[in-house]
Amino acid sequence: MEEMFLQTLQSEKDSALLVKVMELSTICFGSSSWSKEAFDEEIHHPDFRGFGFYCLEGDEKKLVAVCFLRRYVDEFHVMQIMTHPDYRRKNLAKRLLLESIHYAQQQSGTKMLLEVRASAIAAQALYKACGFDFIAVRSSYYNDGEDAFLYQLMLDL
Ligand SMILES: CC(C)(COP(=O)(O)OP(=O)(O)OC[C@H]1O[C@@H](n2cnc3c(N)ncnc32)[C@H](O)[C@@H]1OP(=O)(O)O)[C@@H](O)C(=O)NCCC(=O)NCCS
Repeated sequence: MEEMFLQTLQSEKDSALLVKVMELSTICFGSSSWSKEAFDEEIHHPDFRGFGFYCLEGDEKKLVAVCFLRRYVDEFHVMQIMTHPDYRRKNLAKRLLLESIHYAQQQSGTKMLLEVRASAIAAQALYKACGFDFIAVRSSYYNDGEDAFLYQLMLDL
């Protein structure tokens, strides 16, 4: 049985964080992955908060799922969520999203928001399972012309 643990993502505590995030994203999103520069900027942004699941492989900590948040005043936006294909349907993304919701509540956030590709059925099922509601369509939001669906979760203070 593999040892898995949930951690706050901090580049000071994991010097290879950027490389690990890029590897995971390339596996999950292929050519639609964010660039290295975009991830670098995101994980070093002062309003960034990230949670991840690591799996121990010998002395190595393999990153298998992440959820990135960005604070905008009283709102928290889910910027990224992904799970390595070999680790899906084990509730990892759900646990990371619930941890993120808990964090946003602790920080007195009023709501959480996210955009998701219209075709991302698994992700939308996950968001609904965590209490998010569909609120709007953003037409041709992505570079390839696909619509984005906007989901929101109001936080009880
Ligand atoms: C979406 C994604 C992050 C889900 O990760 P995961 O760790 O497998 O999700 P979980 O195991 O935590 O799923 C929790 C719940 O979400 C829903 N869900 C997750 N994947 C689903 C799927 N493929 N089909 C239907 N419902 C799904 C289910 O309700 C599930 O609960 P259940 O397994 O008890 O039925 C993962 O499929 C992924 O990385 N996809 C590619 C990247 C992506 O699309 N990211 C979102 C971009 S905005």
